[in-house]
Amino acid sequence: MSNLNKILLNKINCKSIWFMRQAGRYLPEFQEIRSKNQDFIKLCLNSELSSEITLQPIKRFDLDSAIIFSDILMVPYALGQNVKFTKGFGPKLSDFNLSEFLKRKKNDFSNKLSPIYKAIDITRRKLNKSKSLISFIGAPWTLIIYMLNAKESKEEINLQKFYDKKKSLDQVIETLIYFLCIHIKNQINAGADVIQIFDSWAGLIPKENLNDYCYIPNAKILNFCKKENIPTICFPKGIKEKYEEFNNIVKPDGINLDPEINPEWAKKKLKNVVIQGGLNPHILLKDDEHIIQGATKYIQTFKDIPYVFNLGHGLLPETDPDKVSKLIKFYRNFDG
Ligand code: CP3
Repeated sequence: MSNLNKILLNKINCKSIWFMRQAGRYLPEFQEIRSKNQDFIKLCLNSELSSEITLQPIKRFDLDSAIIFSDILMVPYALGQNVKFTKGFGPKLSDFNLSEFLKRKKNDFSNKLSPIYKAIDITRRKLNKSKSLISFIGAPWTLIIYMLNAKESKEEINLQKFYDKKKSLDQVIETLIYFLCIHIKNQINAGADVIQIFDSWAGLIPKENLNDYCYIPNAKILNFCKKENIPTICFPKGIKEKYEEFNNIVKPDGINLDPEINPEWAKKKLKNVVIQGGLNPHILLKDDEHIIQGATKYIQTFKDIPYVFNLGHGLLPETDPDKVSKLIKFYRNFDG
């Protein structure tokens, strides 16, 4: 069994390191493939290339896990929305149509995503057995933000778009949960070992709605994963001290910290869960001294409990791959 799976399932304290967005933007070998493949969705549906990109950081660095090269927006794509990525603007989806959305069928959905499952199968065969292959989904709230094009700027959403649709929102969330569980199961059947659930925009949910839009949808997906014995890591980014309530209600195997969460606080408050990540990805843009100092805080705090080293969000496009390599070496040799 891989170290990541041992930590998540058996709560064994051993070394494990991987990075969110380790496959992609900051790697020259990715940029080379990307420059020849302008359509991002098509690239995600190219099983051979997706597998090759997934393995790029594994070839370059001493990492314990690979994360499949895909995107959380492949689910809205498979449910009928066009998804376009324009440089500088982020993703843009075609208008959401509720009645079309509710007509979607399980088989069509799985067929549309079958190249991802093939990419997982190819990758699992090539990946050393000692390493985990991580697959992922976006949580319903985070997907809906993109599905309704509700993002106004980096940190703001148009909540009115949600309240206008309030009556249908529950229906959309339930339908998404249904399809997300299918996507999870298909990815596990294809050879994935762990599922990470990204709720990247959970921090934008008004406190009084956290239960309905964050805890309950994540918990429903977690219950499915528990029944299926699928190890899971949740990432409710930006919810501050509500991390504690999230953890007590949702009960994932692992929880990824964002950079705002104090590691000491997390160690005290987050119980019966494996902690992952936390280090601010911006630190990797600074000099070595800052990087070592930042990493030491996390490694030292969590050295006597099972902890998976990772960041508090994805690697930034401007990250120098040599800094990533240095950080991994530092973690491997750490002896505190
Ligand atoms: O982690 C990995 O290395 C695996 C691949 C992965 C991608 N997206 C590839 C990608 C993963 C796990 C994701 C998750 C994802 N996608 C999230 C959740 C994590 C997070 O960062 O909060 C979200 C919100 C998305 C949606 C998305 N996809 C956005 C907002 C963008 C545009 C901005 C950006 O991040 O570049 C994408 C595009 C995307 N997804 C790229 C990659 C490598 C960049 C594509 C390009 O080359 O232009």
